[in-house]
Amino acid sequence: MKADDALSLLEKYTSVDASWHAHCVQVSAASQRLAELISQRAHSVDVKQAAALGLLHDLGRSRGHTLRHGIEGYLLARAEGHEKEGRICLVHILKGRTLKQGVAVGMLTEQERQKLEKQKQRFDQLSLEEKTVCVADAMISDTVLSTIEEKYGKARRRYGALPQIYEDEAWVKGIAAELAELLGTTPYEALKDDNSDLS
Ligand SMILES: [Fe+2]
Repeated sequence: MKADDALSLLEKYTSVDASWHAHCVQVSAASQRLAELISQRAHSVDVKQAAALGLLHDLGRSRGHTLRHGIEGYLLARAEGHEKEGRICLVHILKGRTLKQGVAVGMLTEQERQKLEKQKQRFDQLSLEEKTVCVADAMISDTVLSTIEEKYGKARRRYGALPQIYEDEAWVKGIAAELAELLGTTPYEALKDDNSDLS
């Protein structure tokens, strides 16, 4: 999927002045840049896909800002014929959890889980492009580059010190460490030292 098509899909469901639209654009720029840097170090990664998935990851916010925005975005993208790309909506919320674990914390219903299980795909295992988006998302606070600790600290101040937020942070840090292996530096340092428009 081209980034232009992802942007058209995003814009079909939101207005450009919605705050999360700008967040998606910045997450896309960051995930694209991480993928470019990974590619430059001779690892196989689809840079365009990383950019497109960044744009789509919060598509479900057009249906509301609860934990259900993951499944909502996935179902929207799938209805638009982009099931493969729409996975990012759900997996960025699940953060390594199985669908069953997702049901337990209110990310989707049991009925939705039963339907999805029939597809026989793993939502707790992510592609490299999906991982770059999750790490970029964890470092873009609204539209500003911040550390993973800063972003999750802010989440705890906003929602309370929920166990789930600690679990999310630990999972993202594990994925960031995987990307650091490929990048030769941490994802934060890679983006901070970058001359692109992320600041
Ligand atoms: Fe999100």
